Amino acid sequence: MENYDKLRLADSKNVNGKVTWHSPSNLAIIKYWGKHGIQLPNNPSLSMTLTNAISKTTVEYQQRSNYSGGAEVTFEFEGKQLPKFQERIKRYLTSIKPFVPFIEQLQFDIKSENTFPHSSGIASSASAMSALALCITTIEDELFNSLPEIEDFERKASLLARLGSGSASRSIFDSWALWGKTGDVEGSSDEYAIPMKEKVHPTFHSLHDDILIVSSTEKSVSSSDGHALMDTNTYASTRYDEAKRQLFYLLEALKQGDIERFGKIAEQEAMSLHALMMVSNPSYILMEPATLAVIKKVRGYRKDTGAHLYFSLDAGPNVHLLYPDSEAEQINEFIQNELKQYCVNGLIINDKVGPGPIQID
Ligand code: DP6
Repeated sequence: MENYDKLRLADSKNVNGKVTWHSPSNLAIIKYWGKHGIQLPNNPSLSMTLTNAISKTTVEYQQRSNYSGGAEVTFEFEGKQLPKFQERIKRYLTSIKPFVPFIEQLQFDIKSENTFPHSSGIASSASAMSALALCITTIEDELFNSLPEIEDFERKASLLARLGSGSASRSIFDSWALWGKTGDVEGSSDEYAIPMKEKVHPTFHSLHDDILIVSSTEKSVSSSDGHALMDTNTYASTRYDEAKRQLFYLLEALKQGDIERFGKIAEQEAMSLHALMMVSNPSYILMEPATLAVIKKVRGYRKDTGAHLYFSLDAGPNVHLLYPDSEAEQINEFIQNELKQYCVNGLIINDKVGPGPIQID
């Protein structure tokens, strides 16, 4: 491990400042499901970075005169103090101390909000943890001028984000990102994600992801518990091999602009994720009847019209609809007429591949 000891403040410095980042969520096409060690993935994953599902996080910091080990934090989410999240963030910041030793020398006052409704069941950990990691990385660079090259900055932000939530490591990059070591992509790593835009055909630079909110109930299994279930899942090693093989084919499809192959893999990955949860012990069924109804309609519509409309799922019941920009008009009509009825209060979050996080101040 790199030596980060130099990232400590002189006690006399008395620094303070304020940093804000807006950072998006992402949708994995090759799913990360199963981890080991300190937030290391059991297979590589590949995702599209979204545009509209964003966390906006501001971190104010001030040097502490007395400190003893743990991070000092206050946390407000959408104007409310949430002790449970505050504790989680405190634990997270304390845990990243080996990489950013100055963390214990500062008091942090953090405010965050999401652009998407929290009852929507959209995983917010990717956007939230990437936004926070970007703020901490900016603070490091402001205080120590340690990350002047953009690649180094992004790598550090991705590493810190990963330690908060694995999927957050991928949200640091615009367009498409890969997290996890694979012989198929040079420079890939289990420690941080890498950008993939250059390896992806322009068709996929504007891919749509409309998120159909078919249920807004709380997740019945947290991601962390879900990952842990893989440790005893009979199909785990088969799954990790399959994910690697699927990644290889997906990389080809993305490079060639092959939307049909892409769609097939996206759907297989979504189904594999849910199948793994169904056969885990305890077993979880995270789809709702409306999830299946939507999937059947999507498949029927594709068969009837030849449209390039595909679905993906995360660890929950909501359906992500994926389609190229060139077919948006026709597909939107289908969604409005045939699928909107399955959504809670008709809620659909229209999203697409995006430009990645932006620093506000
Ligand atoms: C199904 O990144 O939320 O969305 O590392 O425990 O925070 P932790 O898990 P998390 O898991 C995401 C799982 C997934 C697939 C994916 O995004 O790759």
